[in-house]
Amino acid sequence: METLTGMERTHHCGELRKSDVGAQVQLAGWVSRRRDHGGLIFVDMRDRSGLVQIVFDGSTEGLDFAKAETLRNEFVIGIRGKVRARSEDTVNPKMDTGEIEILVEELRILNKAKTPPFYIQDGVDVDEMVRLRYRYLDLRRPEMQQNIILRHRVAKIMRDYLDENGFLEIETPMLCRSTPEGARDFLVPSRVNPGQFYALPQSPQIFKQLLMVSGFEKYFQIVRCFRDEDLRADRQPEFTQLDIETSFLNQNEILTLMEGLIKKIFETTLDVKVETPFLRMSWDEAMTRFGSDKPDLRFGMELQDISEFVKGSDFKVFNSVLENGGQVKVIRVDDYADIPRRELDNLVEYVKIYGAKGLAWIQYSKDGIKSPFKKFYSDETFDRIKQATGCKTGDLLLVVGDKASVVAQALGELRLEMARRRNLIDPEKLCFLWIVDFPMFEYVEEDKRYKAMHHPFTAPREEDVEFLLTAPEKVKANAYDIVLNGVEVGGGSLRIYRSDLQEKVFEAIGLTHDEAHAKFGFLMDAFEYGTPPHGGIAFGLDRLIMLMAKRKSIRDVIAFPKTQSAIDPMSHAPSEVDEKQLRELSIKTAVKKKSL
Ligand code: AMO
Ligand code: AMP
Repeated sequence: METLTGMERTHHCGELRKSDVGAQVQLAGWVSRRRDHGGLIFVDMRDRSGLVQIVFDGSTEGLDFAKAETLRNEFVIGIRGKVRARSEDTVNPKMDTGEIEILVEELRILNKAKTPPFYIQDGVDVDEMVRLRYRYLDLRRPEMQQNIILRHRVAKIMRDYLDENGFLEIETPMLCRSTPEGARDFLVPSRVNPGQFYALPQSPQIFKQLLMVSGFEKYFQIVRCFRDEDLRADRQPEFTQLDIETSFLNQNEILTLMEGLIKKIFETTLDVKVETPFLRMSWDEAMTRFGSDKPDLRFGMELQDISEFVKGSDFKVFNSVLENGGQVKVIRVDDYADIPRRELDNLVEYVKIYGAKGLAWIQYSKDGIKSPFKKFYSDETFDRIKQATGCKTGDLLLVVGDKASVVAQALGELRLEMARRRNLIDPEKLCFLWIVDFPMFEYVEEDKRYKAMHHPFTAPREEDVEFLLTAPEKVKANAYDIVLNGVEVGGGSLRIYRSDLQEKVFEAIGLTHDEAHAKFGFLMDAFEYGTPPHGGIAFGLDRLIMLMAKRKSIRDVIAFPKTQSAIDPMSHAPSEVDEKQLRELSIKTAVKKKSL
């Protein structure tokens, strides 16, 4: 096989411009596309920097044209040639290098390629399983390369910014102790300690707090985390956090520092202006107005309460909701009073997914009001609702009555769905906000106990500490999430740093003194040795990059992700292992071998 020796690259494909006309260049890369016009062959040649058109002309002196005729897509080639301007009518404004082309004088075929299972180009319409099966080819597509390059650049800016602000990157263990109160763990059996298991970290939470006890004051780490959860478009079993912890900073100082980081990331990589400080909204307000703790503020359509207008009628549905302490709320869909009946039926099914028992509506049509509960209320009531909700003739109200949490979820999701259907979301907009004042606990119906909403190391608000054991539902936490366009991209809190308060919080979530000590004793011990007030945050790096790259799934910004069912179709992980390996680990599986 020929080598590149004697023909080292002088340029990269995507960087050549009109100002290079006349230059003698040597390039290396892949054949992206070829068009054979008989004595003339055009090839789009690709390397990491982009594409350039190269031309093989049969009449070029010294050129082995027959060799050029053997070129196929994805062959790896080296060429020597001269940059020339394209004629006016052949300029391609869609290509960065579209004003020029290279007349090839020498071709070397560095490697041949089988015909790939799909075209290596942007916007391919290929089943994702096939893309993942041939991930190395999928990653060769320019848009995928851009995503991975963006990810690199963002990680670099994070490191630079945090370094400039006095943070140290410190690694923490991957083989950890399994601790309760999170998602399900991934376990790793210990060979030398038969019957015992490590857990892969769901986050470095406890270690970063211990680093504060150690006096490092400002820690960060770009770190892999592992959670055995049900997967979605924005959830992977292993994902990456930018994990941060600080000592002696108050909440406002932490948030301000993080806003500076986000601003720098967006302004340097995407060249978009980000206004700081970000809006700060309490959890209560977000739930009331948007039915979500991660509201997408790129459009309005807020939830509005019409309970006071519909109470005390003969309409049983709303009566029983209101008598049971529930509420009746609406969202307004502008200019959609004439929604097709079939779509309404479809929306009824949609809200049921989110726990609503039903959906009603008021159509303020030009030819009158239509509503399933029209006969129960006077025209005057419908007028008052119209006024209160800012409706004009031609608008539609979608109505859900239920207990507050169900109304929030159903209408919150319906709000997003209607915005998508009505095309109300400007994809260029960036709406950042902080959600603050989270409840400390949520009640888990099936376990009949409270659970920490963020994690049990989160500090309750000073003024709420007295309710920890008597009225846990009242307690708010010093916790905060950062939300971008309806996605939670990060979350953190100020921490408990006194062992007595930590014990109390464990007690509130039903961990006895002995259990708490068995699981977290080392942390509580550490707290007895001079623990500074501290707090931090973790960003979901994959989610942030997904939004920056305008992708719908974090799989598109992870080089080698897993599918929804947590497998890698390329390397076929997970897999069965040899009996011998299991024996060494003192493990027996209850599952019959698939291959038998
Ligand atoms: P939390 O659990 O909120 O906080 O995680 C922080 C951020 O990580 C991202 N994230 C995920 N991304 C992809 N796939 C997943 N399965 C996944 N799970 C979470 C989200 C989330 O906001 N130790 C605390 C942080 C702290 O208190 O400092 C923690 O892990 O963007
Ligand atoms: P039903 O008595 O269940 O047949 O409900 C009568 C009508 O009330 C339905 O057609 C819906 O329009 C409406 N409805 C029922 N449940 C709800 C609910 N939880 N929220 C809003 N509207 C409802």
